[in-house]
Amino acid sequence: MATSYQHDVLVIGCGAAGLSLALRLPGTCRVALLSKADLNQGSTFWAQGGMAAVLHNRDTVDSHVTDTLAAGAGLCHRDAVEFTVSNSRRCVEWLVEQGVDFDLRKENSNQQNREFHLTMEGGHSHRRIIHAADRTGRAISEVLTERAIAADNIDIFAHRVAVDLVISNGRCEGAYILNQHTGHVDLFQASAVVLATGGASKAYLYTSNPDGASGDGVAMAWRAGCRVANLEFNQFHPTCLYHPRAKSFLITEAIRGEGGILLLPDGQRFMHNFDERGELAPRDVVARAIDHEMKRLGADCVYLDISHKSREFLQSHFPTVMAQCEEFGIDISAEPIPVVPAAHYTCGGIVVDQHSLTDVAGLYAVGEASCTGLHGANRMASNSLLECIVYAESAANHIADNLAQMPAPGIAAPWDESQVTDSDEDVVISHNWDELRRFMWDYVGIVRTNKRLQRALHRVQLLQTEIAEYYGNYKVSNDLLELRNLAMVAELMIRCAISRKESRGLHYTLDYPEMLPEARDTILQPDNSPL
Ligand code: FAD
Ligand code: SIN
Repeated sequence: MATSYQHDVLVIGCGAAGLSLALRLPGTCRVALLSKADLNQGSTFWAQGGMAAVLHNRDTVDSHVTDTLAAGAGLCHRDAVEFTVSNSRRCVEWLVEQGVDFDLRKENSNQQNREFHLTMEGGHSHRRIIHAADRTGRAISEVLTERAIAADNIDIFAHRVAVDLVISNGRCEGAYILNQHTGHVDLFQASAVVLATGGASKAYLYTSNPDGASGDGVAMAWRAGCRVANLEFNQFHPTCLYHPRAKSFLITEAIRGEGGILLLPDGQRFMHNFDERGELAPRDVVARAIDHEMKRLGADCVYLDISHKSREFLQSHFPTVMAQCEEFGIDISAEPIPVVPAAHYTCGGIVVDQHSLTDVAGLYAVGEASCTGLHGANRMASNSLLECIVYAESAANHIADNLAQMPAPGIAAPWDESQVTDSDEDVVISHNWDELRRFMWDYVGIVRTNKRLQRALHRVQLLQTEIAEYYGNYKVSNDLLELRNLAMVAELMIRCAISRKESRGLHYTLDYPEMLPEARDTILQPDNSPL
């Protein structure tokens, strides 16, 4: 039997964005917090490098703002950048209050006179990445999850997959949620709903992201009438481990921050031929340079060498990378690491304002699912965890200030599954899933052309027709929902890419290699938009 739930706020997603938003709401507010898999399985848990914040006494808000604007290739919204960066120190303090144990500088490691160890990453002109060795996401995720479990006002539901939003009289009043234990679709109603569902990098064959990064929030918001923006800017992380048995394992950029160098298969350095900042150029530049060299040489990978550092240093700064590489027989203190670029971060997303409010009343979006204007055409390393925490606070404050005036949800129809049967053809899902991710990699990858994008659009529209037919006839499952959402978001990515007639940041096309003088967001508006 399907069940109905009533809360004040429904938060869909248990990563840094969803968890911190739920924890920032007042204790009087009843919150439902949902994760589609086990808790701690979103991208947040896997974040390695850390979180950018202005903490060093020689660093300034202006400098962090300037670096972010430069990495974003003219497309960042200055107000969003200033808002995020100027809240960075306070957000670090909040995380520390919650119990997150960031690494301290050795010589200064007492709690009274605390000075954090800060690392460097691409695009940053200062050491400003606060971290917990190379498992920062895990440290944040575990502490916030523990806090949320302990909070009396938060009900946590794992293995619940949001299917679609409930919109009534132009307002979002809840969502239909697949309970993976019972197979039924339940109704969750709330005065405010938050999409904190993460990114969509699973649209690509090779990705650093965990399973589940299928853009569900973006697809649900689009179907509900929200605008989306800048989805052509898919960030490819330059260095994921290249090994036949390694699935999605990232080699943190902090390794380059600590002096790691990139090498061609013959041992030559090459990054300075592309950018004077060398290995610490922004990610779009480094990923494109690697892609260029791999294609020029017909090489399977390039190499990242940090073997000049001592084993002790590597063990204390990069224990996760070291252990994972050792599992594949690579000793990073003695030999270079084989690496390739892989899809890593969705810079665009659901259009939101500074309170994380979308175009639909009662509906908020935070974290990687949203487009705040912070990242522009290329996210600077370690700015995304920061964005999650800053905008989660802003959304929580807005919800708390307005909850009393928000109408209680009305009567909503339960999910109707009287016309559908159990699927007997799951192969359709796995086949379409593979096909989608492969043509996105081949046609909508690091280097694009008009022809490739048109080809991809044609393919994705055919797939969507097939998926819609399947969706209409069979009971929903997590795999089917993810495929449906991914195909929707892939189409939006392709349409954004086709409409940009220039190369800027992460979007590089051979047909328009130059950057236009004026930077403009790509904004798509659905037919049912309330605007
Ligand atoms: P996520 O953490 O991805 O959480 C999404 C949540 O939504 C999950 O709980 C998921 O179950 C849930 N969900 C999704 N769809 C549904 C649905 N339909 N129904 C119910 N629940 C749903 N950024 C940095 O700033 N610094 C770093 O060092 C860094 N390193 C990274 C390393 C890796 C390997 C990866 C993959 C990313 C890294 N990033 C880093 C990026 C950063 O981790 C993410 O952008 C950020 O964690 C996203 O947080 P989020 O809360 O928006 O989403
Ligand atoms: C990394 O550690 O290289 C990832 C940092 C990020 O994606 O911000």
